[in-house]
Amino acid sequence: MTTNPSLSIITLMTLLMCLTPTLIKSEEGIDVLLPISLNLTVLTDPFSISAASQDFGNITSENPGAVLCPSSPAEVARLLRFANGDFSYDGESTTSSSPGFKVAARGQGHSLRGQASAPGGIVVNMTCLAKTAKPAAVVVSADGTYADVAAGAMWVEVLEAALKRGVSPVSFTDYLYLSVGGTLSNAGIGGNVFRHGPQISNVHELDVITGKGDMVTCSPKLHPELFYGVLGGLGQFGIITRARIALDHAPTRVKWLRILYSDFSAFTKDQERLISMGNDLRVDFLEGQLMMSNGIVDTSFFPLSDQTRVTSLVNDHRIIYVLEIAKYYDSTTLPIIDQVIDRLTRNLGFPSGFMFVQDVPYFDFLNRVRNEEDKLRSIGLWEVPHPWLNMFVPRSRILDFHEGVIKGLLLNQTSTSGVTLFYPTNRNKWNNLMSAMIPNEDVFYVIGFLQSAGGSNNWEDLQNLNDRIINFCDNSGINIKEYLMHYTRKEDWIKHFGPKWNDFLRRKMMFDPEKLLSPGQDIFN
Ligand SMILES: Cc1cc2nc3c(=O)[nH]c(=O)nc-3n(C[C@H](O)[C@H](O)[C@H](O)COP(=O)(O)OP(=O)(O)OC[C@H]3O[C@@H](n4cnc5c(N)ncnc54)[C@H](O)[C@@H]3O)c2cc1C
Ligand SMILES: *[C@@H]1O[C@H](CO)[C@@H](O)[C@H](O)[C@H]1NC(C)=O
Ligand SMILES: *[C@@H]1O[C@H](CO)[C@@H](O)[C@H](O)[C@H]1NC(C)=O
Ligand SMILES: *[C@@H]1O[C@H](CO)[C@@H](O)[C@H](O)[C@H]1NC(C)=O
Ligand SMILES: *[C@@H]1O[C@H](CO)[C@@H](O)[C@H](O)[C@H]1NC(C)=O
Repeated sequence: MTTNPSLSIITLMTLLMCLTPTLIKSEEGIDVLLPISLNLTVLTDPFSISAASQDFGNITSENPGAVLCPSSPAEVARLLRFANGDFSYDGESTTSSSPGFKVAARGQGHSLRGQASAPGGIVVNMTCLAKTAKPAAVVVSADGTYADVAAGAMWVEVLEAALKRGVSPVSFTDYLYLSVGGTLSNAGIGGNVFRHGPQISNVHELDVITGKGDMVTCSPKLHPELFYGVLGGLGQFGIITRARIALDHAPTRVKWLRILYSDFSAFTKDQERLISMGNDLRVDFLEGQLMMSNGIVDTSFFPLSDQTRVTSLVNDHRIIYVLEIAKYYDSTTLPIIDQVIDRLTRNLGFPSGFMFVQDVPYFDFLNRVRNEEDKLRSIGLWEVPHPWLNMFVPRSRILDFHEGVIKGLLLNQTSTSGVTLFYPTNRNKWNNLMSAMIPNEDVFYVIGFLQSAGGSNNWEDLQNLNDRIINFCDNSGINIKEYLMHYTRKEDWIKHFGPKWNDFLRRKMMFDPEKLLSPGQDIFN
């Protein structure tokens, strides 16, 4: 929108948009009319189209025909019924064939390969629904055990609202500016998963508008097929409009540790031991990452006086494994926290003198990636191509993976870019009825090659490394599962879902038989 147009012009434009049937182009390039009586205002201005065509991946760009900025879930249901060729509004009722345009919910557009796009179709801006949600986008229950959240809200908003009541969600992604509906459509993973499961395991109930345009409330007891289908369902069965998120007591502060290992097996042994602990002593958060001499060694976590020492360690060993753990506390546990940290770390097998501790507010800990974003934005390295590769690797093959991929491929590059995540997690809190896919082992590793192009790196070269990583795993029989993947061949999707493919297909026929939803995932095109 242009700056400061007079009120009468806005009113006039709004009126015109409401009165003029909107033309959008379907995938086949056929013009489709949104009838006036549908009473939906869609945006077709160049700014809206361009904003909805791009994502964080910054690799693909697909123009939608229009963007819907809904003010109620009923508008989304109306749109989907119309898209099915089922059009009844204001007493009139007609059924014809589907007009042929697709529909994609868009949270924050943090997808990597156009998964939230709808070429020629309609992108539904979920932020609009969160902004107009009554009484608020996040409503914490009276007893503080759950929050009802508009799916377009971001996790940072859920956290802020919960903290006002002294409570908090239990499972977080590393970055909080992701929409609730977007992470629930994938899994929502991070350093709490080993203990609480992914975000999809911490949801009590959902409101979903199915691909047919039906508004359904679902839970493990009520319409479980839809409930489990949409959790990790890649937007294929319905548009989530509300999620009931589990909350628990919120701590106030965090002991945040990074511990450096030069020995890979000591590193993984300690990681695996820490996630297997069952008592109250155990850590609340566990991740890990690599520091490599052929990459940018970010020492900002460490005290200034230790930074040179850390850099030398990395250069001497070429690769250092960083164990990252956190223990939460508050005023009641304050008197014993240092003792607890001491007991937790006393028997770990890292070289002495390479354990570093920060003591930070709980919110700042969870929001730590925001600082990285600000830094990257300030040097123009945020809005660049991100050919990220995320995967789950079965624990039984982690040694082979380390030899072949980390040492054989990554460490053998002349230079690497971005962060490499490397940490184990437990399978026991994942429900196999959900659509999300993980390896078939009790413990598996979360590996993320979070590369950024820019400067001398073009994204195709970085993608080439990803392809070689996948090939290595295929050729070595390491049964990885990719996360946030984008396959374009049907056989890759069938392989990905394995024994669950038939359930996935059946749910598609049940809830979105016209195959309208989230076409950017490229599963049913
Ligand atoms: C900096 C950064 C850090 C990240 N860290 C993590 C991490 O630690 N852990 C992790 O698990 N992920 C992480 N992610 C990935 C993130 O989970 C995905 O990008 C995810 O898609 C959420 O982003 P979004 O809300 O913008 O979704 P979008 O990209 O907008 O949408 C993702 C998919 O879900 C569909 N969708 C969106 N909203 C809905 C809805 N309400 N109902 C149904 N379908 C919907 C879309 O159509 C699309 O197919 C990270 C991403 C970035 C950019
Ligand atoms: C059309 O939708 C708006 C809300 O977007 C509502 O205020 C109005 O009453 C609706 N018009 C009709 C005819 O239903
Ligand atoms: C979605 O709506 C929000 C709030 O109105 C707006 O700030 C944002 O730019 C919109 N996004 C897209 C992709 O249209
Ligand atoms: C990548 O981001 C830049 C900067 O925002 C933008 O100009 C460009 O159009 C984007 N490219 C794609 C393919 O999204
Ligand atoms: C490392 O790279 C060199 C040069 O590209 C290549 O010849 C060698 O085979 C690579 N080593 C491994 C273990 O992949």
